[in-house]
Formats: sequence, C-alpha cells, structure tokens
Amino acid sequence: MSNTDKKYTTQELNAMSNEELARLGTELDDVTVAYRKERFPLDNDPAEKRAVRTVGFWFALGGIMALACIIIYIAWPWEYKYLGQDGLWVYSLYTPLVGLTLGLSVLSLGFGAVEFVKRFIPEEVAVQRRHDGPSDEVDRKTIVALLNDSWETSTLGRRKVLMGIMGGSAVLAGIAMFVPLGGMIKNPWKKGPLGIQGDGTLWTSGWTLFDHGEKLYLGRDTGAIAEEHDGHMSTQGVTRLVRMRPEDMQAGGMETVYPLPVHYVNDGDSYDPKLDVYEEQMHSIHGPRNPVMLIRLRSADAARAVQRAGQEAFHYGDYYAYSKICTHIGCPTSLYEQQTNRILCPCHQSQFDALQYGKPVFGPAARALPQLPITVDDEGYLVAAGNFIEPVGPAFWERRS
Ligand code: FES
Repeated sequence: MSNTDKKYTTQELNAMSNEELARLGTELDDVTVAYRKERFPLDNDPAEKRAVRTVGFWFALGGIMALACIIIYIAWPWEYKYLGQDGLWVYSLYTPLVGLTLGLSVLSLGFGAVEFVKRFIPEEVAVQRRHDGPSDEVDRKTIVALLNDSWETSTLGRRKVLMGIMGGSAVLAGIAMFVPLGGMIKNPWKKGPLGIQGDGTLWTSGWTLFDHGEKLYLGRDTGAIAEEHDGHMSTQGVTRLVRMRPEDMQAGGMETVYPLPVHYVNDGDSYDPKLDVYEEQMHSIHGPRNPVMLIRLRSADAARAVQRAGQEAFHYGDYYAYSKICTHIGCPTSLYEQQTNRILCPCHQSQFDALQYGKPVFGPAARALPQLPITVDDEGYLVAAGNFIEPVGPAFWERRS
C-alpha cells in the first residue's frame, strides 16, 4: 500500500518528524518533485555572503526610504505658498518627495523579496495533479509541515541580522503607507483667528465676519488671472471678485457669490490700478463654506414663494441667497433649473425647492439649504444683511431642520 492510501492516526502523525511530514505532504498532494537543488549546499560559500549583502541592501534601502517618507511627511514645510512667496520652491517639493520616497521604499522591498527568493529558496521544479473537494486532517497537518520545511530550507531562521533588516523595513514601509491618514485627524473645535474662511471651526465661514461688524458685498467671480506688466506676471490691479447690483442678473438666473469685505473691493468708482487684493479675494473663493447661490426668481414664481418662519426678511425682492454646500455630504449644489425652481446637487441627486426656503424635496439630503439674509446698500450693491443663522453643510445635530 502506498503512503497516499494509508489512513494515519493522530498518534502516528504526531510521532513523525517535520521532514517526514513534509515528504508525506508532497506525496499526498500528488506532487512530484522533478528537480531540487539547495542554493548553498556547502558551508562558508562566499556566494552566500554576497547574497546576504544583496538582499540586506534592498531591504535596508526600503526601510531607509520608508523612514525618509515618514520624516518628510511630518517635518517638511507643506503649507501652501503662492507664486512669488518665500519658500515656494521648498514647498513645491513636498508632494514629489513623499511620493518618491514611498515609491522607492515599496520598490526596494519588492526587489529585496525577489532577490531573497532567487538566492535563498531552493531551486525546485515540482508538478502537482489537481484534485477537488475539501482537505482532510492529514492534509492540513502536512501543509503546516511543508510550510515549516520551507522556513527551514530558506535558512532565514539562522540569519538573524537579515531577518532584523527585513522585518524592520517591512514595518517602516507599512507605517509610511498609513502615515498619510494622519492628515485626516483634525480637532473640529480648534479655533484660530476669524478670517475670510471662518475661524477654523465647521460652523463658521467668511460670512461670519458680518457678526463682527464687517460689511460684506456679494462678490461675483470674474475668473480674472494675473496679468503681464513689464515682462512680469502681476496681480496688481486685477480684480477677481466684483460687487453686484440687482440689475446685473436676469430673472430666472443664478450666480455663485462669495463674501467680499469692503477692504477687498477694487471695482467701480473705487477701482485703483495699483491696489493688489487678488490674494485676499482668492482666499474668499477658496473658503470651503463661503459659496452662496444668488437666485433671481421670475416674478410670477416669486409671488408663490413660501418663507420659512423667522426668515421672512432674508430675501431681497425676487433675490434669494442659499448656501451652495449640499446638506447631504457637502458637494456644491451647482444646478438651478428655472422652470421648476429646483436646485440640484449632482453628487447624489438631492433636489431643493428655491420657492420653499431651500427645502429638500428629493434625494438623500434631509435638511434645507441655509439661507443668507441679503439686501441692497445705499449705493445699490447687493450686500449680506446678516450671517447664516445655522451651520452650513451636512450633519449638524444642532440644526432646526
Ligand atoms: S452631496 Fe448633495 S446629494 Fe449627496
């Protein structure tokens, strides 16, 4: 009877050595080892030392690159620098260096693993016939023995230094891959100074400046960019945000507007070709909770508009201003359909009714778009008449609706 037909008892299996179990496993799996050769059959083979150095080099390089990636990610100057600002060059290296070191780390570990297999695992040609069905106990036992055998023949067990390098590098590379998640850890209650993008908390925006006595125009984005003067690109005299008057919009139209404080204004009678407020205006545009949809309803529609209790005076005639940040998960609700007076968020198809204080009427959003109180000043410009009375964006338990 061949070994493959015999039924082994637990006692018999426990009595077998690892080598015997490995051999038995090979037979049971219908594996025929056609060729097998140890890489270094003789002790003190100089080629073995070279192989250790090569594999050690790749793993060490992988570990060093992973460590460099972690250090760069944490310590390199990463805060945005605009054109012409000191430190732009150093800042612009941040992303390439993080990518380069992480990529080199993974690549080096890959080379190391390939070199290790090529130089230490015995050369072997084995053929296995396929069989169906689950494995029985003897198979499970013998596969463990085979794995043990692979470990023994790989000689890794006695190469403590190489093991240390490989293990350390793998751990560092693993950390380097997860370190970027650290950028997502943020204290939502941490306050900074109040500016055009709010004070850093999620319930403030540029419009919050109104509560601190700032007059805020509704600024329309012109899309203007830096201009060339005397061979240099300059933003002097370039106006990105301009004030709006009601007559600048047609009935049934929608415009995205941003908070424009008085000292950022550079248009109309106040235009000064030497003034450079471009960067400040861009900060307003980049404020994550600043964009507001200014909608001019058609007169017949405006007559049917329903005001929310407490917000009766928030609109100016036919003009309504709603936060552009969807109350579902914060996409820009960019589409306004004048026939139905619906505002559509393209992310998950939530729809809000512009005739009913931005109430959600379709889709996953459950809360109305916050409405910004607006009016017109003495010079005829559209201005904010107050701050939002509820937080902008999604998922605030404190909201009334
Ligand atoms: S973010 Fe607007 S519907 Fe999901």
